[in-house]
Amino acid sequence: MTTRKIIMDCDPGHDDAIAIILAAARPELEILAITTVSGNAEIEKTTMNALKVCDLVSRPDVMVSKGASEPLIRIRETAPGIHGDSGLDGPELPEPSRSWSEEHGADTIIRLVKESKEPVTLLPTGPLTNIALALTKAPEIKDNIEEIVLMGGGTFGNWTPTAEFNIWADPEAAKKVFDSGMPIVVMGLDITHQALATKEVIDQVNKIDNHVAKIVGELLVFFASTYKEMFDFDGAPVHDVLTVAYCVAPELFKTKDVNVTVETKGEFTAGTTLIDLHGVTGRPVNAKFGLELDVEGFWKLMIEALKKY
Ligand code: RIB
Ligand code: CA
Repeated sequence: MTTRKIIMDCDPGHDDAIAIILAAARPELEILAITTVSGNAEIEKTTMNALKVCDLVSRPDVMVSKGASEPLIRIRETAPGIHGDSGLDGPELPEPSRSWSEEHGADTIIRLVKESKEPVTLLPTGPLTNIALALTKAPEIKDNIEEIVLMGGGTFGNWTPTAEFNIWADPEAAKKVFDSGMPIVVMGLDITHQALATKEVIDQVNKIDNHVAKIVGELLVFFASTYKEMFDFDGAPVHDVLTVAYCVAPELFKTKDVNVTVETKGEFTAGTTLIDLHGVTGRPVNAKFGLELDVEGFWKLMIEALKKY
């Protein structure tokens, strides 16, 4: 089997954690490293959480590098209202069996992309600070990046009326990525809100008799509770998991080639992604935008992955 090399840049975060769990269950994916960024919680917490999830799925071999603790120029904000103070509230997870690497996350991305004999796919599921830093420090890595499959943006917002959190948290970083000319797949809110972990889904997860599924069930219960409280959702959208699902089962996704532009100047609109669905701007296509998800197929894939643990 040919494996696809990936680097997961994330801010665990409940959905980031489940994305790691799905990726670790798929033999066709080779996780070169997990790099962390400040986002759902401060960098020390997101990095500790990434280490805990690697222990949960028995992957002490996966390098975890701590990345940017702040956005490029803006003041850091986190999302404890959604993910809890730890960034991964809900289940009790043991302290990590190891510490994070001394190498900065952006330097890990640069080094591993340069060293890889095959192109590497980047899966950013938090603010894009590390990706922007890596591209600025070593633009030549573009030549060995297969594509960037990111969670972020959308035609509407969840942190402001028009801006999604990952993009809003570091709009300048996001603009750098979208203006980079690299192949980008965008899993924005339009499609991630179709991947709702409803009570029925959680019941299915809880029927799986292994420890990883038990923890995922507890993550989803907590995540669904905050989404109910904050947005009156009947389930938690597992945003980030769609980046991994796209890599292993693209047939579950309907996408459209569009121009995505990031607003960085607006007093009220900074972090907004302008998704040019009908090509009215005349700006060149720079991304595949996720429109529709085969929801049944997605959850079947997720449940099958959890049964492997
Ligand atoms: O807006 C959703 C995104 O913000 C997800 O990546 C979630 O983990 C948070 O980082
Ligand atoms: Ca995330």
